[in-house]
Amino acid sequence: MGIPKIHPPITNASGPLSVTEEELHALGRSGAGAVVTKSMTHCPREGNPEPRLAPRINHDVGSINSMGLNNLGYKRYAELVPALKQHGKPVIASVSYAPCGHDLPLEEQYLVIAQALEEAGADMLEINLSTPNLTGIPIATDPENVRRVMEPLKRAIRIPMSVKMPPYNNSLALFEEVASLLVELEVDAVVTMNSEPNALDIDLKTRTKLIRPRGGYGGLGGPAILPIALGEVHRFYRYFRDRGAEIPVWGCGGIATPEDAVKHFLAGASAVQVGTALLWEGPGIFERLWGGVERWLREHGFSSVEEIIGTVRDA
Ligand SMILES: Cc1cc2nc3c(=O)[nH]c(=O)nc-3n(C[C@H](O)[C@H](O)[C@H](O)COP(=O)(O)O)c2cc1C
Repeated sequence: MGIPKIHPPITNASGPLSVTEEELHALGRSGAGAVVTKSMTHCPREGNPEPRLAPRINHDVGSINSMGLNNLGYKRYAELVPALKQHGKPVIASVSYAPCGHDLPLEEQYLVIAQALEEAGADMLEINLSTPNLTGIPIATDPENVRRVMEPLKRAIRIPMSVKMPPYNNSLALFEEVASLLVELEVDAVVTMNSEPNALDIDLKTRTKLIRPRGGYGGLGGPAILPIALGEVHRFYRYFRDRGAEIPVWGCGGIATPEDAVKHFLAGASAVQVGTALLWEGPGIFERLWGGVERWLREHGFSSVEEIIGTVRDA
């Protein structure tokens, strides 16, 4: 089954303003091309203790969070899918793992959730292999874990599945290993990137760390990570293109302006997601971004995003 058409090719990133029923319907009514849910886990979770989100740090360069996968639990999201589909755009369910009151192993938790959301009518699954805020070590930093999670899913699930990845900028050997595994597993799309793990910021007035969980360390998102995210998108894009693998790359990270989104498309993204800037601006951001992308395309003589995907030139 092919990937659903995402138009405009701009959606929310899983997490910001996508946890509650009200937030998800607001995304459904917005100018986003799809609704992506918060990453759901087997058990409902309250998440980490507050303060766990610093939405605007250090002259608006970004956000730091360690939310700890606060979510309603997969059963509730499965119930919400039919009503969310009424908005007439694809519903993408983000599936994740967290230790929970029982001992269902990692891969079985993913499988149970994925099957329930497929049955509920979700159009696509985004398999989150990159949550940085439970242990500081995303699942996708271990190729064996990627295989352990994805193989049973590939056998059982019929709707398209993307994988949400952490940055590999500090480990290019690991990148090669994981990217070749994703080709072997025939994933339907790659979403890159999740937040830059293990960042810290300090309030100078009070000399305190901005967030409490995990010793103050959290995931960095927003404009500060744009160049890292562009690097991730371009690296995956080239890797797949050079091997003839038709795996679309969806860019996520650092997008706050239409020009940021255009950079993602030039680097190789065929759709983009917005996290921190959505927190800042609310669901009206999608119309502003898409309007600006369309204007940029017109002004530069293009008639569609497809014409510019991956066309960045060497310096
Ligand atoms: C408050 C908050 C919650 C997040 N929760 C999730 C999540 O549940 N699942 C996930 O895959 N990413 C989550 N993320 C990461 C974002 O989806 C995104 O990958 C990251 O913030 C980079 O995008 P940005 O620069 O546009 O913020 C969260 C980010 C923030 C700020």
